[in-house]
Amino acid sequence: MSYKIAWIQGDGIGPEISKAALKVLKVLQAKFSLNLELSFYQAGDRCKASLGTPLPDSTVDGIRQADATLKGPVGESAADVIVRLRRMLDLYANIRPAKNYEKHPYFHDIDLIIVRENTEDLYSGIEFEVDGGAVALRIITEKASQRIAEVAAKLALTRRRKVTIVHKANVMKKTCGLFTKKVKEELAKHPELIVNEAYVDAASMALIRNPETFDIIVTTNLFGDILSDEAAQVAGGLGMAASANLGTSMAIFEPVHGSAPDIAGKGIANPYSMILSCKMMFDWLYSRKGDRRLSNASEEIEQACTRALKLNLKTPDLGGTLTTDQVAEKICDLISGRG
Ligand code: NAI
Ligand code: MG
Repeated sequence: MSYKIAWIQGDGIGPEISKAALKVLKVLQAKFSLNLELSFYQAGDRCKASLGTPLPDSTVDGIRQADATLKGPVGESAADVIVRLRRMLDLYANIRPAKNYEKHPYFHDIDLIIVRENTEDLYSGIEFEVDGGAVALRIITEKASQRIAEVAAKLALTRRRKVTIVHKANVMKKTCGLFTKKVKEELAKHPELIVNEAYVDAASMALIRNPETFDIIVTTNLFGDILSDEAAQVAGGLGMAASANLGTSMAIFEPVHGSAPDIAGKGIANPYSMILSCKMMFDWLYSRKGDRRLSNASEEIEQACTRALKLNLKTPDLGGTLTTDQVAEKICDLISGRG
């Protein structure tokens, strides 16, 4: 059986970390006799400059036809690419794990997943100017709140069974109030879950002070966006952070971070975020297709990355001295048994 993978390399460091992840996929394909049919599509700032649009129809068609999509970060056109794709394809659940792969003597352990509603909130794209100001509409619906809670509950049941609902219902009484109410209703269907809640400001403090107390965080779009960068840094850095945008039958896997223009072209971008996004893709494909080779590939990435970090195979953002390509090659060696 073959799997169709659409790949958007993106802008800035996107092509650099995509190239690194591609090397790793090639080694995995050989090791597990996996047949991945890769097709490359354009989107983002460079695409806009050359084709006049940051998200051509051909790219959207490619994503629709693929079994899964891998996406590097795009630049200033992010709202017109990924935020648009999430709504257009109804990729309603954004899954953002934050885990420190290395135990550190001074820092807290962290192993949590932010489950971020991905289609509405202040990211609905409804903004307009009024006389003397501008207005953005915050949309929260019962349906979206209920279905993101369902995803959070399902994930929590496979882990430490703890869900923290993050909101700001003391101030945004209607929108956050509705979100919190629907999420609680859904979570209450699973009495084995430990459910608590936190205001987003207090939660952002607690994420730094005692991140080990969190298991699943379920929250709205904007809060989830902000908290996931924070959690990624607590776990080691943005260059480690992978994510999944999941719908009912389509999914896009991408690093949490952006195109990092400050380091683009220097060959020092951390490729773990893109490689771990491939791992999330294999997990999701396995959940749908049941092909053991997919879960083996996922497991292999996890083990190789854990070993590589222990061996200090790191780019400068993690305190290492290796280039993007060198990290990728070392991970390939570990997977193929040469390391
Ligand atoms: P950023 O996430 O690109 O960078 C923040 C900081 O983290 C920078 O210092 C950068 O060098 C560092 N960093 C990020 N990824 C790294 C990696 N793999 N290895 C080493 N260091 C890394 O955020 P910023 O600067 O706010 O945004 C840059 C561009 O990215 C903007 O144009 C923004 O619109 C876009 N963006 C795109 C996203 C997407 O495609 N999903 C998501 C977030 C931002
Ligand atoms: Mg973000």
